[in-house]
Amino acid sequence: MSGDGQIAASVLCSQHDVHARYGGVVPELAARRHIETVDTITAEALRKAGMTWADIQAVAVTQGPGLAGALLVGLSFGKSLAYALRVPLIGVNHLEGHIASAWMDQPDFPTPCVVLVVSGGHTHLYLVQSGGTMQLLGKTLDDAAGEAFDKAAKILGLGFPGGPAIDRLARTGNATAIAFPRPYLKPGSLDFSFSGLKTALLYDWRDRGQSTQQGMIADVAASYQEAIVDVLVEKAFRAVRRHHVRALAVVGGVSANSRLRTVLAARAAATGIRLAVPPITLCTDNAAMIAAAGQRAYRAGRLAAWDLEASADLPLPTEADSPSLRSRTSGTRRA
Ligand code: KG4
Ligand code: ZN
Repeated sequence: MSGDGQIAASVLCSQHDVHARYGGVVPELAARRHIETVDTITAEALRKAGMTWADIQAVAVTQGPGLAGALLVGLSFGKSLAYALRVPLIGVNHLEGHIASAWMDQPDFPTPCVVLVVSGGHTHLYLVQSGGTMQLLGKTLDDAAGEAFDKAAKILGLGFPGGPAIDRLARTGNATAIAFPRPYLKPGSLDFSFSGLKTALLYDWRDRGQSTQQGMIADVAASYQEAIVDVLVEKAFRAVRRHHVRALAVVGGVSANSRLRTVLAARAAATGIRLAVPPITLCTDNAAMIAAAGQRAYRAGRLAAWDLEASADLPLPTEADSPSLRSRTSGTRRA
């Protein structure tokens, strides 16, 4: 990322081919793949940006949450790079990266706003205040929305990752063919729950029998996707209404879903709510969003110490966090 916040180069090294045959991410293989590629993709990003190592003025690296092995590889590499180049190190929360992606495309996106983070590990609703403080409004009580897509794709034999496969297949299906449940939970709740929906799909699919399964697969995918989209959109706009804000950002891998994007855009237009959904390449995991969040942290003087540790379940600091939780995020120093 250049100093003015523009993406100088973005290089993605997908690992899907490594994990596809196992139907999900294998942590040990993920860490090894990181070791194999982290230096070459960094060098490639520099080359594409037309920069040299000497041009780097700070290094931002994901601290967590995520798979410990993969985080450790990135963190060790980031620390080594910053140490060797004698530049500041910045630890970035992965979710902060996703949230920052909303502003990459729309730098003038207003606050206060509601942000829905929907990925493979998270389905979290936040209220982001003008000063940047965040309040957690609701979250999934079981599976994340991306997990619901991935598990469904596994049941339907569509491979991994499941979200893009279901998205593609659903385009040719009838979304009203099967009345899957919409888990809205208690009236007014801003929490989510997708595990029951996945179980409903499992039973529906088994009961269908092999002879009718293949003829119905696009309808099943479309109906299932519609149930997830309905719940995500309803709760996001419920949060917007409840907190009297006029802006909604939806970020994370699932925000790449074409049906979700269409329904969000229609609802935002009908209600006059300003909507930010990043371009697809910034929805799924990418380094540019980590650089963007890192740049904000750098400007706020939030630099990391050399003992910065990877944290598989690193929380996002929110208003509700106690001071003791904040002091536990060790390894962070003020410049
Ligand atoms: O943010 P992300 O790349 O990684 C995590 O932080 O988890 O999100 C990955 C998740 C996966 O569950 C994947 O199936 C889902 O995002 N996903 C999608 C689509 N593209 C990726 N889900 C639905 N529709 C898509 N087009
Ligand atoms: Zn992610």
